[in-house]
Amino acid sequence: MSALLTFKDVWVEYGDKVVLERVNLTIEEGSFVSVIGPSGAGKSTFLRLVLGQEAPTRGQILLDDRPLTPECHPDRGVVFQRYSVFPHLTALQNVAFGLECEKSPLLGKLFGKARRDANALAREMLAAVGLEHNLDVYPAQMSGGMQQRLAIAQALIKHPRVLLLDEPFGALDPGIRLDMHGLVTGLWREHGLTIVMVTHDIKEAFKLGTRVLAFDKRRIDPQAPHRYGATAVYDMPVKRGETPAPPAFA
Ligand SMILES: Nc1ncnc2c1ncn2[C@@H]1O[C@H](COP(=O)(O)OP(=O)(O)O)[C@@H](O)[C@H]1O
Ligand SMILES: [Mg+2]
Repeated sequence: MSALLTFKDVWVEYGDKVVLERVNLTIEEGSFVSVIGPSGAGKSTFLRLVLGQEAPTRGQILLDDRPLTPECHPDRGVVFQRYSVFPHLTALQNVAFGLECEKSPLLGKLFGKARRDANALAREMLAAVGLEHNLDVYPAQMSGGMQQRLAIAQALIKHPRVLLLDEPFGALDPGIRLDMHGLVTGLWREHGLTIVMVTHDIKEAFKLGTRVLAFDKRRIDPQAPHRYGATAVYDMPVKRGETPAPPAFA
């Protein structure tokens, strides 16, 4: 395995508020990284850095040993907990739309063969997430689990190397969540994806991840809570199928 992403002494600050400090880690191609930590520990900020939506205040992030470009990139697909699939588009249109944006950013429309190709690919992605019978359904007619599948299909159609999941299953019922675990595991294996998933659920983190990163502050100044930022305080390799005892948080 080789390093896909490298964080070198990365800091994120907003004014005098330090959110992340001294983040040093590499993410191997093909790994499934679960990210846990208390609310406000900078987990979403960490994902935004990988997405290139945000640049570090200090330090460096490398993708394939080259500086990460701070822009939306087809290398990276993203799914958030409350993902805004477009309500006025059907499932098929929602998934094909991702491709339209990429191919023709100004026009945003595909014609003729390009459109037929996009639709065929979108159908394939929808089948991969089990929505092949819901091509013409609008998001409002879908359950939370179906909307989440749709969001994953939308992210996957660009064939991202990294799939970023920000608490993707938090709002789902336990049974549906279990289905989604199977789906994501299958997609991860079949597409050779690298996945970085933030979750509140420690059991989910250890069940799905090949590695669990815990973000938290190493030091706290009671007089100035924003003085110090969070960093990866635990970094645990996991053999899938084993469920080790959860880490003891200080
Ligand atoms: N644009 C911003 N300006 C100021 N503070 C921000 C901004 N974005 C995030 N933060 C702060 O950074 C901290 C970490 O946020 P976040 O990454 O969302 O944490 P998590 O996802 O772990 O809950 C929070 O204290 C949040 O208020
Ligand atoms: Mg968050």
